[in-house]
Amino acid sequence: MGSRISGVGMYAPPRIMSNKDLEKLVETSDEWIRDRTGIEERRVVKQGTPTSDIGVEAAKRALDDAGISPDAVDIIIVATLTPDMLFPSTACFVQTKLRARNAYAMDISAACSGFIYALSVADALIRAGRGKTALVIGAEIISTILDYTDRNTCILFGDGAGAVVLTECPDGEGLLSCHTYSDGDLWGYLHGPGGGTVAAGAPDGEDGPKRVITMSGNEVFKHAVTRMGEVSLEALAVNGFTKDDVDLFIPHQANLRIIKSVGKRVGIPEERVFINLSRYGNTSAASIPIALAEAREQGRCKSGALVLMAAFGGGLTWGSALVRM
Ligand code: ACO
Repeated sequence: MGSRISGVGMYAPPRIMSNKDLEKLVETSDEWIRDRTGIEERRVVKQGTPTSDIGVEAAKRALDDAGISPDAVDIIIVATLTPDMLFPSTACFVQTKLRARNAYAMDISAACSGFIYALSVADALIRAGRGKTALVIGAEIISTILDYTDRNTCILFGDGAGAVVLTECPDGEGLLSCHTYSDGDLWGYLHGPGGGTVAAGAPDGEDGPKRVITMSGNEVFKHAVTRMGEVSLEALAVNGFTKDDVDLFIPHQANLRIIKSVGKRVGIPEERVFINLSRYGNTSAASIPIALAEAREQGRCKSGALVLMAAFGGGLTWGSALVRM
């Protein structure tokens, strides 16, 4: 057996933070942000909103789209780097809020690659007979771990959630492959120590590790382009496809220049690359399922379409998934 995507959904909080708004917080400009990243605005939740709340909104839409009731869900996986609490998992909060009484629930931590990792785990569990229906959610309230005095990072990210329903199907249909990789040697390029044992007892501030995202932008940029390119080409080769077979390429939405470079490396023309980065910024683990939901709504990944997804993130981590919708 295998698994297929039978429903998709997304939720973006209504409050918009524009580049102009950021000009009031740090020394930056709308022009710089657009030129260097392609981002025009991002969404930000009302303070105090837990990640599970926006995950639930996306999940409800994915379940509606699939025509499946919460009772029928066997597995809930939430990919996030901004969980509600250290424990229990954000997935357990999603379970109770959805009243998905028959599911087991857990989180995946793979930063911006989290959704691809979660998809891979859910697919493997279905293949192993550990459930027939999985809810896979990418949800981030990344505004809670941004330093709004650091122009290198605060301009890049936004809040949001996306979800898919995976259901059992015959092998060779639906999700054709997932490839996931990590290189822990490179953790220092992108990290947020707050909430973990390294930062235990140290308050945020000058003398303790900060809760906020710390990043070497240029290093992350180079790795993102190389690794997303490689892992996308691997997905095609392993499945006996070429770039011409891909109906839609959905790369992680981090930076327009990264997206364009990866598209070129894989050889997919821009009209078949999905981009919504300008409106949401980098929503980390939520970026791919949000893009997938919007692509579906716009009729760009109809039933039968071959969709290639690729992500990279802190860890460093990266991965791809090839799906027949
Ligand atoms: N506004 C104005 N100037 C800025 C800003 C800003 N917001 N940010 C940096 N600058 C300045 C720098 O200080 C530097 O000035 P200097 O030359 O006087 O020192 C200059 O702009 C150039 O800085 P670079 O870092 O070289 O700019 P670059 O073109 O590389 O763009 C960016 C930086 C946008 C961060 C880019 O490197 C990038 O997108 N990297 C990938 C980051 C990413 O995607 N991270 C998320 C990973 S996913 C996850 O797991 C969370």
